[in-house]
Amino acid sequence: MKFEKICVLGLGYIGLPTASTFATHGLQVLGVDVNRQVVDTLQNGGLHIHEPGLRTLFQAAIGSGNLIVEDGPQAADAFIIAVPTPFYEDKRADLSFVKSAAEAVVPHLRAGNLVVLESTSPPRTTVDIVAPILEKSGLRAGKDFFLAYSPERVLPGQILSELIENARVIGGVDRLSAEAGRDLYAIFVRGEIVLTDATTAEMVKLMENTYRDVNIAIANEFSRLAERFGIDIWEAIAIANRHQRVKILNPGPGVGGHCISVDPWFLVEAAPDLTPLIQASRHVNDSQPQVIVELVRKAVGSLHGRVIAVLGLAYKPDVDDLRESPAIDVARLLGEGGALVRSYEPYKPGARLEGLHVVPSLEQALAEAEVIVLLVRHKPFLELRPAQIARLTPARLIVDAVNAWDAPSWQAAGFVVSRLGVRKSRVMAVDE
Ligand SMILES: NC(=O)c1ccc[n+]([C@@H]2O[C@H](COP(=O)([O-])OP(=O)(O)OC[C@H]3O[C@@H](n4cnc5c(N)ncnc54)[C@H](O)[C@@H]3O)[C@@H](O)[C@H]2O)c1
Repeated sequence: MKFEKICVLGLGYIGLPTASTFATHGLQVLGVDVNRQVVDTLQNGGLHIHEPGLRTLFQAAIGSGNLIVEDGPQAADAFIIAVPTPFYEDKRADLSFVKSAAEAVVPHLRAGNLVVLESTSPPRTTVDIVAPILEKSGLRAGKDFFLAYSPERVLPGQILSELIENARVIGGVDRLSAEAGRDLYAIFVRGEIVLTDATTAEMVKLMENTYRDVNIAIANEFSRLAERFGIDIWEAIAIANRHQRVKILNPGPGVGGHCISVDPWFLVEAAPDLTPLIQASRHVNDSQPQVIVELVRKAVGSLHGRVIAVLGLAYKPDVDDLRESPAIDVARLLGEGGALVRSYEPYKPGARLEGLHVVPSLEQALAEAEVIVLLVRHKPFLELRPAQIARLTPARLIVDAVNAWDAPSWQAAGFVVSRLGVRKSRVMAVDE
């Protein structure tokens, strides 16, 4: 199938790089967003999101005349839907954005068009929800127009290169739809393009993230066992991982972000009776912030009135993304326990978060602290020198939830160090 003009609905972290990449590869692209502010910013040549390299790519796309941004779709050869799929408070998938984007396509859909859903979605969304909406046009999916699901699996921070280099899964409602999808993405994808059916493609994306969630849950559970049995979990994991068939992940304060902590719930909602392991993993990871708070409580005795410096609020190292972050839960729980918490996030020093006192500098977080709680392995934190920190703070107590700091160096500078998953007397360590 040949494509000249495409329409990308949703111009966020996924849609904007995708639209820009198609445009710089010669297609006429109409980028569509329902958020007026996003449209205005992009029409004025600005960007509303941060992703390395995106500014240059977007400006090249706009400069070529191939990318135009509007607030509604028009007729095109293909439509790509890349809108959010969050969950509600009760963890049910919120498909309202997917539904409204599909509705917006209906008046413009023509025989022979291709529609691709990229948003991470519960199993059967493409066939049971998107197809019936599009068929309100009077055209039939797989007969009169092509319909496919193609999950996005890029890593924030590396979106532009991974968009092109990653293997891409394209699941069609029929074989010809999958092949039409392949013809479209082959315009820029250099990774392998794997064709399958739409529901398998939806499951692939959900399984990848759920697999990771379950593996992090077992690492977190191991960290709890380590404290019970008096070992160092980091040492135990390092030794276990020397086995060629074992790859245990790192424990920590929990799981956050808008993918791994969200996507497993799509499977749970779709099949609650068949997902006991996935549900248990979600509960283990969601309760991990309480484990960290307990660790702090054990280190200080009582939280009440204690001034605590919380270092790191992002959901993972070296990003500024605070969505669903377990570090924020830890800071909030410490505050609810009576502590006076000063949180510092080097990648978002100006963050405003309800119920949290976020300070704009490390110095301010440390100035009056009695305890330092390290929650994220950000590079700037790894580079801190114990002697330098000792001069910035009266605190001599450290709780390291991510095994980022070399405990002996901090002990040598006068700190008492508690680490997640460690209750081992140093004299007992075999290699000492
Ligand atoms: N960001 C990632 O790293 C990533 C990775 C893999 C998968 N995903 C998935 O991709 C999808 C999109 O995620 P994102 O991070 O780009 O979201 P985002 O929030 O950054 O952007 C989505 C955009 O869609 C717009 N929108 C909402 N409804 C619309 C509609 N009906 N028509 C047109 N635009 C509409 C919003 O205004 C917003 O600008 C989600 O399902 C997400 O789970 C994201």
